[in-house]
Amino acid sequence: MSKSEKANAGKTLNIIKKEIEDHFLNKRQEILDIELNSKLINEKIDISLPVRPVKSGSIHPITKTLDEITSILASMGFEVKEGPHIEDEYNNFTALNISENHPARQDHDTFYLNKKNMLLRTHTSPVQIRVMSQKKLPIKIIAPGATYRCDDDATHSPMFHQVEGLLVDKNANMAQLKSVIKILLEKFFQIENIPVRFRPSYFPFTEPSAEVDIGCSKKNNTLEIGKDEEWLEVLGCGMVNVKVLENCGIDAEKYRGFAFGLGVERFAMLKYGINDLRMFYENDLKWLKNYSFNPNGFPNIIRGLR
Ligand code: DAH
Repeated sequence: MSKSEKANAGKTLNIIKKEIEDHFLNKRQEILDIELNSKLINEKIDISLPVRPVKSGSIHPITKTLDEITSILASMGFEVKEGPHIEDEYNNFTALNISENHPARQDHDTFYLNKKNMLLRTHTSPVQIRVMSQKKLPIKIIAPGATYRCDDDATHSPMFHQVEGLLVDKNANMAQLKSVIKILLEKFFQIENIPVRFRPSYFPFTEPSAEVDIGCSKKNNTLEIGKDEEWLEVLGCGMVNVKVLENCGIDAEKYRGFAFGLGVERFAMLKYGINDLRMFYENDLKWLKNYSFNPNGFPNIIRGLR
């Protein structure tokens, strides 16, 4: 092409190039729009749909009660210790001064295992023996956990829970025991100056021994805790029997101990107004909704409306 022809052709080609580019961009946008519109149609969110229910678990009243008792005692400096549920006769009975023909051995309705001398622990007291035998003094522990007895009726379950407490120190005494128990009961039942009575009793592993009663009223078939009318037994306690200290190799001339043991189901029933022990283990959802606790710590609405 001549120079002038080239200039003309260049102009025309540029126009054509621009047209092609425009066509291309328009078509591209058209395709993107179609894609977007179909997405908008297909992925439309229907905000009028009802939400799917969130099914959350809840805290069982036994767990809640165990947590409450544990945290009150932990705030007084008791450390949590655990022991095996499968125990031997020595820790469960013999070392606790419950000899072979002691009536308490029969009272405990023990589940014996096929293996010689092995059983399901009938109380949390064997944890005392395990901890004392380590001889790391002083000792200030609680042992919460499941216990087992061959018993099943309206007020007994073959599996139940206890919290054991044990303090061993040079000057441990009954006054300290009384004050620990008093604080525990006041804080647990959230009743200041709750009437508490220590009534002389007998346990092979403590000497002296006492059973602890709290004041209540039982008028009109309604139990009210904290009243000064009648007594209700809630736990057992005492000064650790010298024989038990010696069984664990602790010098009873230098060291004293006090101990207590309580039933968690009983505490839960009294605080939360549960009157049938068996319901704890029925796994009845309606019952659980009513008596369990919201894990977030918010009050359970169903309970509130009860
Ligand atoms: N072990 C007892 C029981 O299961 C409860 C108990 C009573 C534990 C007195 C103690 C205690 O430590 O001092 O019936």
